[in-house]
Amino acid sequence: VLPQLERDADSELLADPLAAHLAETRVHATRVEHVFVAAGAEPAAAASAALEGLRRQYAELAGAIVEPRLRDLFLVSAAAKTEHLEIALYAGLIPIARQIAVDVDPLELNLTEERNALSALEHAGTALLARTPS
Ligand SMILES: [Fe+2]
Repeated sequence: VLPQLERDADSELLADPLAAHLAETRVHATRVEHVFVAAGAEPAAAASAALEGLRRQYAELAGAIVEPRLRDLFLVSAAAKTEHLEIALYAGLIPIARQIAVDVDPLELNLTEERNALSALEHAGTALLARTPS
């Protein structure tokens, strides 16, 4: 989802935090893989129906918004939904990992970065909104 959002962003207020979080997200995947290996599980890529639903919803609606500032505001909303979902996933996963005595520090770090990404998006959204004529 993030690469598409980054390509579609018009304002640097949005493109910059999206690019930064895209780089973080690649590290997140590596951390999660290591946690799964530490737990004795085989890491495997699996499609998320929830994320796919968000991606489809974005793809269906984004093209209909031609005004760049409004599209960026829609993009903020779409990206924030993704971050909320990821935050919920880590919030559910961390107690389970802790219960089976797996080091949760990498997951906690991912969670912190997801929360920071959401905060950056919210700040970008506020700044974009201030630039939008009423
Ligand atoms: Fe994220």
